[in-house]
Amino acid sequence: MPAAPLAVQPPLDGVKPYKSLSNEELHARIQAVRDELGPKLLILGHHYQQDEVIELADLRGDSYQLSQMAADSSDCRMIAFCGVHFMAETADILANRPEKLAERGGRRVTVTLPDLAAGCSMADMAAIDQIEDAWDQLSEVIDTTRLIPVTYINSAASLKAFVGRHGGIVCTSSNAKAAIEWAFNKSNGGKGGDRVMFFPDQHLGRNTAMGMGIVNELMPVWNPHEQELGGNTEEAITASKVILWRGHCSVHQMFKAEHVELFRKNHPGIQILVHPECPQEVFELADQSGSTGAIIKAVREAPAGSKWAIGTELHLVNRLKQEHPEQEVHFLSPVVCMCATMYRIDLAHLCWTLENFAAGTPINVIEVDEETARWSLVALERMLEVK
Ligand code: 13P
Ligand code: SF4
Repeated sequence: MPAAPLAVQPPLDGVKPYKSLSNEELHARIQAVRDELGPKLLILGHHYQQDEVIELADLRGDSYQLSQMAADSSDCRMIAFCGVHFMAETADILANRPEKLAERGGRRVTVTLPDLAAGCSMADMAAIDQIEDAWDQLSEVIDTTRLIPVTYINSAASLKAFVGRHGGIVCTSSNAKAAIEWAFNKSNGGKGGDRVMFFPDQHLGRNTAMGMGIVNELMPVWNPHEQELGGNTEEAITASKVILWRGHCSVHQMFKAEHVELFRKNHPGIQILVHPECPQEVFELADQSGSTGAIIKAVREAPAGSKWAIGTELHLVNRLKQEHPEQEVHFLSPVVCMCATMYRIDLAHLCWTLENFAAGTPINVIEVDEETARWSLVALERMLEVK
């Protein structure tokens, strides 16, 4: 049923007036737009979003699940992506891929990111010109036709397109192992490579490859700020199995081995559960690891009375604490580790974006150019195939 007309005409021109509204007012106005637009609007929320945003999301998930949701969306006209920039780009590419456009008679889904400043510091650690430069330098030393690029989904669309053009694949934290196996030939029609170049997160790349039996000595780290071979010798590059990029998540980098040791000492029987973006020493000490979706599943399925110290973004851990009072859930670090850019998405920005869309003046639209989208899609479709 359509919502009653709003008593106050929304100020549409900028987010500032929305900032003075209470969360109750914003919630009611967002709900009014949801009622008005019905299935035309899909609000997607990443697990790291703050609670008041997550409450209003139609669907929530980790990066892999959200990509699938965007890929499967059919009726909607707009996706409001409550996450960060690379996720909204991915949603635009998948929701507007050629077969979906054909189904909708050419009509595009408008993808918006409520605050355009919601980026990802890790994604910003690898720029396309740095990747191209690294590739050119590597081609002087090794056969790059046998080097398979794998990019973490936390990267700009231009990197995904690079990977698509060079026979590579995108991965998320939930399918990184399958993606690296794919790159080494397990299932890509015999075209696997001798080695993989993994960017931008060195930790996810290293932790995953270590789990596949690849030792640190075969994983040189490419520092894009070093002039020659990313600070490596020719011998190290020639001997390598996985070339890692010197990037990291500033949130997950804050978890330390001593935090694990302290919890084990003070809470006998506690299980340490971490995201694979954590550094190797933390990852190796943990009892379990997984994507945000896998972390939620592990806690949900554990028997009452289980004790956890969880190493991932603060909002998700706090939500798990609230949703599972039958278990003892702790945050692994004594200091606050939250994703400041995810946190930029608040009710004020969401309301501003939705009311503009309802008024026919979409703002904060993320639209990937056709050529970049075409090649990114090649690598993203491979990602959705391997699990
Ligand atoms: P997942 O959603 O894949 O667990 O990744 C976490 C993350 O850092 C999102 O940016
Ligand atoms: Fe990027 Fe880390 Fe934030 Fe994820 S948690 S969006 S990797 S900065």
